[in-house]
Amino acid sequence: MSTIDIVAWFVYLLAAVMFVIGLHFMNSPKSARKGNQISAAGMAIAVIMAFAHLFAAGFISSTAVIVLVAGVAVGAVAGVYSAKKVKMTDMPQLVSVFNTVGGGAAALVALNDILASAKTPDTVVLVTAGLGVLIGSVTFTGSLVAAGKLQGIIPGRPLALPAKNLWNLACAVLAVASVVMLVLRPEQRLLWSVLTALFALLYGLLFVFPIGGADMPVVISVLNACTGTAVAMSGLAIDNVALIIAGALVGAAGVTLSVLMAKAMNRPLSSVLLGGFGDSTSHDDADGPEGSMRETTADDVAVQLAYAQKVIFTPGFGLAQAQAQRELADLGELLKARGIEVLYAIHPVAGRMPGHMNVLLAEANVPYEELVDLDDINPQFPGASISLVVGANDVTNPAARKPGTAVSGMPILDVDKAQNVVVIKRGRGKGYAGIENELYFTPNTQMLFGDAKAELQAIIAAVKELDA
Ligand code: TAP
Repeated sequence: MSTIDIVAWFVYLLAAVMFVIGLHFMNSPKSARKGNQISAAGMAIAVIMAFAHLFAAGFISSTAVIVLVAGVAVGAVAGVYSAKKVKMTDMPQLVSVFNTVGGGAAALVALNDILASAKTPDTVVLVTAGLGVLIGSVTFTGSLVAAGKLQGIIPGRPLALPAKNLWNLACAVLAVASVVMLVLRPEQRLLWSVLTALFALLYGLLFVFPIGGADMPVVISVLNACTGTAVAMSGLAIDNVALIIAGALVGAAGVTLSVLMAKAMNRPLSSVLLGGFGDSTSHDDADGPEGSMRETTADDVAVQLAYAQKVIFTPGFGLAQAQAQRELADLGELLKARGIEVLYAIHPVAGRMPGHMNVLLAEANVPYEELVDLDDINPQFPGASISLVVGANDVTNPAARKPGTAVSGMPILDVDKAQNVVVIKRGRGKGYAGIENELYFTPNTQMLFGDAKAELQAIIAAVKELDA
């Protein structure tokens, strides 16, 4: 081992420690920003070291320098631009696009390692690089489709492909068989590595296309885990410790998140990997809920809230869309000043990404002890005078308790069990899963149609008037 190898090893170790410390800080919204900065600094150190290592080892030509500098510049500009411009509500699409790029890059690095060397690569390189091509390619197309679905470019509802499990299985088996052939027949490595990539790209498409929007959180975290694993495999193939550690951390975090998300949505993880769960045969418009919606006004809601004993706020994606978190927090403070107990019901998949509601409400300085998880808040709904639902739909839909709908089996917030329910939303639009919400048609529910921010402001003004 040369001196520069030893230096590189220690610098990569430092970067890895910074990734782990960064992840630790991301445990809480309060310290998450610092965690991001520490991890980003670790990544910057690792990238600079990789450059220095290449120079010192004399591997680098002037063309390579131009290509590398151009690549870093394009990546940095795109990263900074998207992080600054993309709205909080569009973050899941951004994560999906990053997964696409990460998976694709890992596959290309691994492919290059298999094909570029003049002599036949050894078995360890063939296995790890072959897996890098396979997993990276699945992630590339899978994440692209997921981003398209989240952005609304591709329909979000589950698509029923004929014999989808058979196609999925065939592509998965053929991709794995191609990696096996790559290892057994390294002299034909161009053929087998390209076939691995092709079958894996196809599997990525078939795997995500049939999955409906309501199940997307689990898919995104599975793809996130795949990106990390592909990067780690490429790191093993090219013998780069920083890539191995960073990839392993992303892979492990992605797996943990996938398991937590699958549990939160009560979906078996195994069925995600086979492609498509959630039932497309939802009983929507044709045999939708009976009855009609009862409309109310902001003044009326203000009176009900002002004379309540216990109020549970139930925020959802619409709150994030309207950026109304501060208004909700202000209303909470106003009610608490009147001696009313106020709690916030937090569903683990409310919004469009894990922890979305916690982050939004933390931003508005809502005390942590008022944010109550699904299991702890559900028994409290019957004791609540009012549940105020702000832009939440699927996570409150009682249809989840019955079989045969797109949200069946998903644990929901038992909002309908509160003594009175008020729902703020703009119109009669459906939630992310694309089905009607039975909650809106129950006799104890009133609908306040309008933008969440404007309606909350109107309620706040009306409550203040009561005191004037
Ligand atoms: P949704 O089911 O998406 O419902 C949000 C509701 O907010 C809509 O019905 C919409 O109705 C209303 N809305 C939108 N903009 C509004 C505004 N400016 N003011 C007032 N209301 C507004 O949200 P949810 O209940 O939070 O459920 C989350 C869904 O997303 C679940 O299906 C979940 O699986 C899925 N998902 C979650 C994640 C994660 S990890 N959290 C990731 C991807 C997908 P109107 O159009 O009538 O206003």
